[in-house]
Amino acid sequence: MPAAHPSRLHQVDIELADRSYPIVIGHGLLRDAATWAGVPAAAQAMVVTNATVAPLYAGPLVQGLRTLHRSVHVVTLPDGEEHKNWQTLNLIFDELLRNACDRQTVLYALGGGVVGDMTGFAAASYMRGVPFVQVPTTLLAQVDSSVGGKTGINHPLGKNMIGAFYQPRRVVCDLDTLATLPQREFSAGLAEVIKYGPIADMEFLAWLEGNIERLMARETSALAHAVGRSCEIKAGVVARDEREGGLRAILNFGHTFGHAIEAGLGYGQWLHGEAVGCGMVLALDLSRRLGLVDGAFVERLVRLLERAGLPAVAPSLGVDRYLELMRVDKKAQGGEINFVVIDKPGSAAVRTAPQAVVREVIERGCRPA
Ligand code: NAD
Ligand code: GLY
Repeated sequence: MPAAHPSRLHQVDIELADRSYPIVIGHGLLRDAATWAGVPAAAQAMVVTNATVAPLYAGPLVQGLRTLHRSVHVVTLPDGEEHKNWQTLNLIFDELLRNACDRQTVLYALGGGVVGDMTGFAAASYMRGVPFVQVPTTLLAQVDSSVGGKTGINHPLGKNMIGAFYQPRRVVCDLDTLATLPQREFSAGLAEVIKYGPIADMEFLAWLEGNIERLMARETSALAHAVGRSCEIKAGVVARDEREGGLRAILNFGHTFGHAIEAGLGYGQWLHGEAVGCGMVLALDLSRRLGLVDGAFVERLVRLLERAGLPAVAPSLGVDRYLELMRVDKKAQGGEINFVVIDKPGSAAVRTAPQAVVREVIERGCRPA
């Protein structure tokens, strides 16, 4: 990891009454003891990470935590979405119990969204709840999954179907960690960054169009702005609707189609962000067919996704298969599929759509087999 001088570039506060917390964005944050001041100073801590991230960043993090906790254990999970399940979750509990960790123990999720979601769920349930901190190391995790308290694991019959809302005490986005992220993973994270434009902030979308090459080159100031603005938008939505009674569902723009792509191809074939990118194009085309936006907006999104190194055309799974898979979506109610549509540029809404229109979107929008 580059030995950057520690510097905080940005802080976003997420306002949730007694569960409010800061999202800190900067450089060289992991090994800097100042980063962790304010986290409960429990005697024990456990860093949960995976086999890819541990050799890169567990050392600096443990070093940074040394003055705060008397002992810092590290548990290294297998890497991959296919391990986001009960068996892997149990490895965390095994380690906590083996080390006689008490109910003050602080868990640190060091890794991407898979590690973050699992560690959060472990923290929500170990001894009925222990504090945890998100230390996201993928772009996707820094701009989305580490913020807002959705935690959980997959079930063989559905993604993220078992879980809890449980907020971290702080989120620490060390931009230096993004230097080692494979390009495909970086692009997948950009899909979630791009998402915030159409749903909430057209100015941000225009900024992304003007700066996508700088982002692809991982330029510091561009990264800091993209991560900071994404976190601000997400924090604003979560503060208004923490448990997804309504508004928060707009953060799932592109995800109804996207989840169908992931499940239909088999998890791991396409990355989550890749599927969400194509899903956004389909959801925007649905919005166009419902008369909410024009075709130029759809084209604009397609161009930006392509410049971000993402596929913009969804794979063909067959219309009936898409519909079947989308009915398993958490937003579905009574068998009716709910879609996040763009009701005007920079604003999203959740609604159903006539099946004939949805069929047309899928038929026209997917690459023939
Ligand atoms: P991931 O956690 O699988 O990480 C992607 C890959 O990058 C992994 O192989 C990982 O080991 C590796 N990696 C992580 N950091 C690295 C680094 N700095 N350098 C090199 N390699 C690194 O995937 P992800 O895209 O971060 O997260 C996807 C998961 O997040 C999915 O399970 C999805 O369901 C979940 N998610 C949750 C939320 C939420 O609100 N909780 C939101 C979006 C997505
Ligand atoms: N990623 C969607 C949400 O956090 O609600």
